[in-house]
Amino acid sequence: MNILRKFKHKTSALMVAILMLLGTKSYAQTTAGSGISQETMLYITFGLVFLVSLLVLLVAIYVLQLLKGFIRKEMTEEQLARQEAEPGWFAKLWAKWNDFRPMEEEEELLLDHDYDGIKELDNHLPPWWKGLFYVTVVYAVVYLLIFHVFKTAPLQEEQYEREIAAAEALKANAEADLVVDFDENTVTATTDATELADGQKFFEAQCAVCHKADGGGLAGPNLTDEYWRNGGGISNIYKVIKNGVPNTAMISWESQLNPIRMRNVASYVMTLQGTNPPGALPPDGELYEPENE
Ligand code: HEC
Repeated sequence: MNILRKFKHKTSALMVAILMLLGTKSYAQTTAGSGISQETMLYITFGLVFLVSLLVLLVAIYVLQLLKGFIRKEMTEEQLARQEAEPGWFAKLWAKWNDFRPMEEEEELLLDHDYDGIKELDNHLPPWWKGLFYVTVVYAVVYLLIFHVFKTAPLQEEQYEREIAAAEALKANAEADLVVDFDENTVTATTDATELADGQKFFEAQCAVCHKADGGGLAGPNLTDEYWRNGGGISNIYKVIKNGVPNTAMISWESQLNPIRMRNVASYVMTLQGTNPPGALPPDGELYEPENE
């Protein structure tokens, strides 16, 4: 029993250590922002949980083998002989999972109809088949909850759209040789509805994680009020998007967005001014007063 307890201690200590590791990992993810995508993190987490479960299982089997050894030592010759004669656990399991009424009983199982000479037996389905069926029922419920009720994971369609959007952003960037007649000092906000919609789409896809879809702020500051850490107005906003803010989660987006896209997003951020969304973060930074922009 002592050994068993020791093992329990060891595995639980291991579990705690791994959980702590996982915790710091996901924390680092939310603060450091970019790098590994959330999806990859999810797969890594599942992978680790799977590995840990496997490890625990192996340890459990090992402990069981040890116990078996101890018990065998205590057994008398007679008991041992009796045990040997019994079918092994695997044979028993096999019989149990394949249990159905044998051929000899067919007479009783025969249904009394006859389809042009084809007769039907009323045997039950083998337990392994029924087991699989129950597993699919449970799986369906879990699937429904994850994908349709709580929507914790994206459906294929959404995943597809995300990937297409990312590919399009890359493509747009590849075409970034486009000649623009502005830089961060001379940029002006666009009022074109299509361009603003483009900015909004990108904002909601890439910026909302930290600034919230309505701009009210989460890990990143509120973008809807007149207080700015890095200055308000199209020029400063464009600069922050282009260069990022060093040593914060706000990265430089220059490699992912061409200047037109950056201007579209910056212009969209400008339109959030004064929208006062519910649950917005309190003012942060300094009051910015536009000088005839
Ligand atoms: C990983 C989180 C994260 C993402 C994603 C993110 N930001 Fe930020 N953003 C921040 C943080 C944190 C700050 C505050 C930086 C500082 O301390 O000055 C910030 C600051 C800003 C500011 C300046 C706010 C101010 O008060 O000066 C703007 C504008 C901004 N972000 C726009 C965007 C846009 C547009 C996107 C999408 C292209 C984006 N952010 C994506 C975290 C993020």
